[in-house]
Amino acid sequence: MTRVSALPGMRDYYPEQMRVRRWVEDRWRDTALRFGFEEYDAPVIEPLELYTRKSGEEIVGQLYAFEDRGGRQVALRPEMTPSLARMVAARSQGLPKPIKWFSIPRLFRYERPQRGRFREFWQLNLDIIGVEGVEADAEIMAAGVEVLRSCGLGQEDFVVRYSDRRLLEAVMDALLVPIERRPAAYAGLDKLVRAGAEAASAEVRKAGVPADTATRLVRAVGRRDLDGLREELAGGEVDLTPHAERLEQLSRHLDAYGVGGFCEFDAAVVRGLAYYTGIVFEMYDRAGELRALCGGGRFDDLVRAAGGEDLPAVGFGLGEAVLVELLEARGRLPSAEPRCDAWVIPVSADDRADAIRAAARLRAVGLRVDLSLREQSVGKALKRAGQSGARVAVVIGSSEREAGVVTVRDLASGQEERADIESLAGRLLQRPVERGRA
Ligand code: HAM
Repeated sequence: MTRVSALPGMRDYYPEQMRVRRWVEDRWRDTALRFGFEEYDAPVIEPLELYTRKSGEEIVGQLYAFEDRGGRQVALRPEMTPSLARMVAARSQGLPKPIKWFSIPRLFRYERPQRGRFREFWQLNLDIIGVEGVEADAEIMAAGVEVLRSCGLGQEDFVVRYSDRRLLEAVMDALLVPIERRPAAYAGLDKLVRAGAEAASAEVRKAGVPADTATRLVRAVGRRDLDGLREELAGGEVDLTPHAERLEQLSRHLDAYGVGGFCEFDAAVVRGLAYYTGIVFEMYDRAGELRALCGGGRFDDLVRAAGGEDLPAVGFGLGEAVLVELLEARGRLPSAEPRCDAWVIPVSADDRADAIRAAARLRAVGLRVDLSLREQSVGKALKRAGQSGARVAVVIGSSEREAGVVTVRDLASGQEERADIESLAGRLLQRPVERGRA
């Protein structure tokens, strides 16, 4: 029989990989809850038009789209933001504001599989809906920093680069970039840092922007700081002051959160997605070797476009793939050993009922317990127990049954002693295996 393998860009998660994913997700969830976000979810399959309307060409070109058996045009979700906008739009009047929601969706994009890019992947999404000011942008960005810090990464490992689409709009106004060309021009500019000025200019021209304007736009954005932008626009009728003030205010809030050192203004951060309207940001590894860890920003029009109230919104999506690569490169991934508290071994078939009762008792108090299910020698069972990462093996034979005790073998030191099951439970509970540990 030929083996059928997983599709390109899709990953099997064997337990050792799953432990790592869960470890990461646990840190994501903990941090989101610490910042007061509530968890939500949405369907993996959505109507195609949810994305064709607002996500922008790049994502639409990567959709897994098909007709379902009822003749509907549907797609596997490539991102969470349109589903979030739909859910909020449907209930927006009744929801207390601000809405702070998070989700850990499984997403699909038909991309060319490469380092850090898969066709199926997971993101953490954090979004705040109903706050217009930079207070929400700062809270979202600080939460993003804390998510990575909770995974053991520090200022030497990653950086948040941010800009403001309103500032970029002012630059485009000054350079007379036609309004209808702007969404595609953003997608082109988004390539600047990764692919260089030539490639970005070509993309912006492809968006229908005249060649000399495209060159000036790319050069201005490529200066990356506010003074550089001002210089490039010298002579034009544009006042960047209100944007500079807003960015100043954001920077002060970020300092107050204690994350200012992680964040840098960078005009070349524009984001490829079509729906952003204000602050935009991305997180990168400091060494600049990997793709973006995270991308986000303000999308003030999306809830209204989904048929809801006019509600400002800001949020981000942080992928697990690049994060795991960075953690690996920095040696910060937790050991992928399995962990359990105890492994129970009956010496013979006659001892099985007592072994089951012992395991059931230990499980009932909340310990992680495995039980030998095969009839095998105690030596083999002990070896298997060692592979499970258990702290102790609990052996039950006829002499233990007669004495009403169990033999407890510490699997690290090899020391053995007899104990009754209740005192063993109490002892293991004092120091259970670290929950959430991979
Ligand atoms: P995005 O920039 O398309 O934004 O994706 C955010 C992050 O998801 C990326 O920085 C990357 O870490 C991860 N990611 C994207 N595509 C892949 C892939 N093919 N394989 C692995 N990881 C990937 C969004 O999705 C926006 N909806 C984020 C957002 C939420 N904006 C506001 N709220």
